[in-house]
Amino acid sequence: MLFEVSHADGMYIYDTQGKAYLDLNSGISVSSLGHRNPKVVAAIKRQLDKHMHTMVYGEHIQTPQVSFAERLTKHLHESLNNIYYVMTGSECIEVAMKLAKKHTGRYEIISGTNAYHGSTQGAEALRSDTDFTSHFLPGIPGIRHIQFNDNADLLKITEKTAAVIIEPVQAEGGVILPAADYLFDLRLRCSRTGTLLILDEIQTGFGRTGFLFAHQKYNIVPDVLLIAKSMGAGMPIGGVVSSKEILGSLIKNPALGHITTFGGHPVCLAAADAGLELLLENKIYDSVLEKEKKFHRNLKHEIIKEVRSSGLMMAVELTKRKYLKHVVEYTIKSGALIDYFLFNDRSFRLAPPLIISDAEIEEACRILLESMDYAKSQYN
Ligand SMILES: Cc1ncc(COP(=O)(O)O)c(C=O)c1O
Repeated sequence: MLFEVSHADGMYIYDTQGKAYLDLNSGISVSSLGHRNPKVVAAIKRQLDKHMHTMVYGEHIQTPQVSFAERLTKHLHESLNNIYYVMTGSECIEVAMKLAKKHTGRYEIISGTNAYHGSTQGAEALRSDTDFTSHFLPGIPGIRHIQFNDNADLLKITEKTAAVIIEPVQAEGGVILPAADYLFDLRLRCSRTGTLLILDEIQTGFGRTGFLFAHQKYNIVPDVLLIAKSMGAGMPIGGVVSSKEILGSLIKNPALGHITTFGGHPVCLAAADAGLELLLENKIYDSVLEKEKKFHRNLKHEIIKEVRSSGLMMAVELTKRKYLKHVVEYTIKSGALIDYFLFNDRSFRLAPPLIISDAEIEEACRILLESMDYAKSQYN
């Protein structure tokens, strides 16, 4: 359903007719702190008054870049101590693929079935659905897939594999959680074969799963961590985080292994830094697991098959595919924003800003249950 956006504030997006929509999408896991948080807006304005773009190849030290890197790496494993800034999630993937090839001297890259890592040619090559990728051939050589959560498939990772690029919780597959020990066994297999484990935390990062990062929740340490989306608190920015040794592979022989004019844009990083400060100081993600439980308690309906979630990254699967469109459209008409997944045609996405209040959760669930009554009534 189309509407023209007038403005957005906190949990709500307003159209030009004055109608308010409760945001249960966060613009696909971006607006985790809600819309236009005053501290983020103030930080952006302060940076605008100092400088915008200056220079790109690291010649200039830019305070927002340094400040964010220091703040972030304090909360990561000591091996994740360097960051290369880019602009988007897809660009993170491009850098990660190049980095893996350069660092290991291998070219095979493995990703999970039904994963979405972005829409540039490298990122798209990681997709397993040939219905889509066959229109853009030839693709990138050396891409293979493993079935997410299938431990036997881990044997496809060998001494020939440069990297496994994988999400700790599959987002566009419809919030597919890692089975017990899956990520641990994946980590082990990568270490044994000298393969880089590259975790795409572009959706799961910055508190979405109830922990700062999902790999901390599931107790593994990746070789490379990819971040974007909510990183910029509403502004476009991404980062490839790794050790100095691994990231260093990209800066020598040849130098400038990846160039990006606007990567690490100071205004975006001022927003990101203020957002991260807020997230950490106010412990915003501490309440996420309680909020997740509240959604589960409220979302009971005869056409719900199951609710899958990791924190406030949720998928509501319906008993029949035919109900989905009715639920999504009725919910949006009723003033709450939900969305479809790319690879799951029975579930809808719930990923509200982490600041959602108890009363807003009640209201969201009231609208959703009413939408499900409506969807059911269409087939009585
Ligand atoms: C898990 C994951 N990785 C990567 C991307 C690509 O990010 P971007 O759209 O910023 O290029 C997305 C976007 O939806 C994503 O969900």
